[in-house]
Order: sequence, then C-alpha cells, then structure tokens
Amino acid sequence: TRAEAALKDIFADDFRIGAAVNPLTIRTQEELLAYHFNSITAENEMKFASVQPEEGAYTFDEADRIAAFARKHGMAMRGHTLVWHNQSTGWLFEDKQGNPVDRATLLERMKTHIHTVVDRYKGQIYAWDVVNEVIADEGDDLLRRSKWLDIAGPEFIARAFEYAHEADPGAALFYNDYNESHPGKRDKIYTLVKSLLDQGVPIHGIGLQAHWNLYDPSLDNIRAALDKYASLGLQLQLTELDMSMFRFDDKRTDVAEPTAEMLELQAERYEAVFRLLKEYRDAITSVTFWGAADDYTWLNDFPVRGRKNWPFLFDEQHDPKPAFHRIAALKG
Ligand code: G3I
Repeated sequence: TRAEAALKDIFADDFRIGAAVNPLTIRTQEELLAYHFNSITAENEMKFASVQPEEGAYTFDEADRIAAFARKHGMAMRGHTLVWHNQSTGWLFEDKQGNPVDRATLLERMKTHIHTVVDRYKGQIYAWDVVNEVIADEGDDLLRRSKWLDIAGPEFIARAFEYAHEADPGAALFYNDYNESHPGKRDKIYTLVKSLLDQGVPIHGIGLQAHWNLYDPSLDNIRAALDKYASLGLQLQLTELDMSMFRFDDKRTDVAEPTAEMLELQAERYEAVFRLLKEYRDAITSVTFWGAADDYTWLNDFPVRGRKNWPFLFDEQHDPKPAFHRIAALKG
C-alpha cells in the first residue's frame, strides 16, 4: 500500500476524482487507480466506432471489462461519448450503395445507438458525454461542419440528449468540449447550451475537457469560463484534465526528461488550478484526468509524433510528483 494520502480523500468534500483508463492501464496502473481515484472514464472503448463498428453488430467486450473494473474497485463511472464527429464509423452516414443517408435514417441510427449503449450501463454511469465537440473553433459559425450537421441539421444535438434521457433518466447528461476556457469558444458553448435549456432539452452539465498546459489557458480565463457556465445553473465537470509541459505551438523534440524547473512550474500550476476548482465546488461534481500517471498519456504523440510528455500528478513509476504534494496540502 502507498505512503501518500489518496486524492479521492483529499477532495472528498469537493468533487469526485477521476481518471481515463484503457485496456492497457487497467492492468499496468491498477494499484494506483484503485488507491487514488473514485471515478473512471473509458478513453476510447465506449465511442461509436468501438461499440458499433458495423450496423447492429455491437462489440461491448472492452467497454464491459472497464465497467467491471470500476465495479471491482467501487468506482463511479463517466460515459464517453455518444455523438462525435471523430471515431464514428463509415457505415453510419451511408446506405449499402455508399450514398449518404437521409436525415430520418441518420437520426434513427443515432437513436438506436444511444438507446442501446446507454441502456447497457444504466444505473452504473452517473454522467454521459452525450454530445462531444460540436462547436466550431474558428470563425463566426456556431457549429463545426460534420456529417452529423450536414445530414441531420443542428437538431441532432437536442435529439441526442432526448434519446439519452429516455434510456437512462437517472444519468446526468453533458455537453463536452475542449478550448472551453478560450473566450470566443466559451461564449459559443454558452450560447449552444443556453439555447438547449431554453428549448427544454434534458441537459444537466457542461464538461470542460481541460487539455491545458503550463502556460495556457490563464487562470483568469478558466475562472471566467467557470463563472459563465455556472451561471446556467448546471453541473460542471472537468472531464479530460492534463497539464502538458509544452505550449500547444511548442514543437521541440529534444526534451528527454522533465527538468526540476518544469516539474516545479507544473506543481505551481496544478496548485493554482485546484485552489480555483475548490472555490467552485458547489458547481463542480467531478474532476477527471485524461490518464493517471506519466507512463501512459495520449500526449506522447500529440501534437508532435513520438515526443514524450509528463502531464500528470504521478511519474512513470507511479510515484507522486511535486505537483501531487502541492495539491495534497490543499486538504481541508
Ligand atoms: O486501436 C488502434 C490499434 O488497433 C492500432 O494498432 C493503433 C495504431 O496507431 O491505433 C489504435 O487506435 C488509436 C486509438 O486511439 C486507440 O489507441 C487511434 O489511432 C488513435 O487516434 C486514438 O486516439 C484517441 C483519440 O481520442 C482519437 O481522437 C486517444 O487515445 C484518446 O485519448 C483521444 O481522446 C480524446 C477524447 O475522446 C475527446 N477529447 C479529446 C481527447 C484527446 O484527443
């Protein structure tokens, strides 16, 4: 057993503490995950292409194993994600001849998918990312161009929430996005969610992915985003938190190890962020990292292929980093 205090205990009065997991890390990080985290999210295994690669031929093996891991360790579970432009499958948007399907067909397929997946984990999953990343990053358009939008029109968003609510009225339903603390995108996310609420759509929360780095976004912008979203009266969850060592436009490939200075900057940054999150504990119901320890992170290949990154509170040996100790001192 471990010497340090458990994250889930440090924040027991504030919010759940989660980690994204996958078939590899539920083996290689089991002890760390079980000790520190009381919520998990499947990193890829509940996405459309993972669970319904061919129409009607559902493949739930890996998702089921992750759900069983959560039950084994008494962890709560977030569901990720039902409707996304990425990791969808080709068949979804086409008929047998390869022509685009019509609107009614796509919405029917979406409904069947959502009902099947949400029903399978009904009662276990406390929050679903129903719709992921539909806001346009740049320009004046509110919504991102996608096959969902082109074929079904903007109403696919409201319908997705309605179908998910039909399948599990007990699950909290989230809109989830990245760059959520950049002022322009923040305002667009707010506009979308406000319009869904005004239409009476069953939406209960906003997921802030929180793919952040040592420098961006600023604490002021994070605070402004939390204020604006909380003003809608919804739950907020950080759904994919990581703290990259590199600015997004930093393309260096020659950093083999994090320096003491980088680790100290990361510790200061994590401390400042968690101080802020605790201020919003009435609105924030969980904080999920997009991984758990530096031996596995999707950032090892993104945005620079092959470059290592060290975004978490635990190092490659699963030992606490300076950032962990700074956060642990916030207890109480
Ligand atoms: O499954 C195949 C495997 O068979 C093959 O050998 C391997 C070779 O590259 O690829 C595997 O698929 C990869 C998959 O992850 C599983 O590891 C895909 O190439 C890769 O693109 C995919 O990346 C995932 C990414 O979403 C896809 O967009 C990342 O793991 C996952 O962390 C990332 O998560 C997203 C969230 O869902 C939404 N928000 C952003 C976040 C980070 O991009």
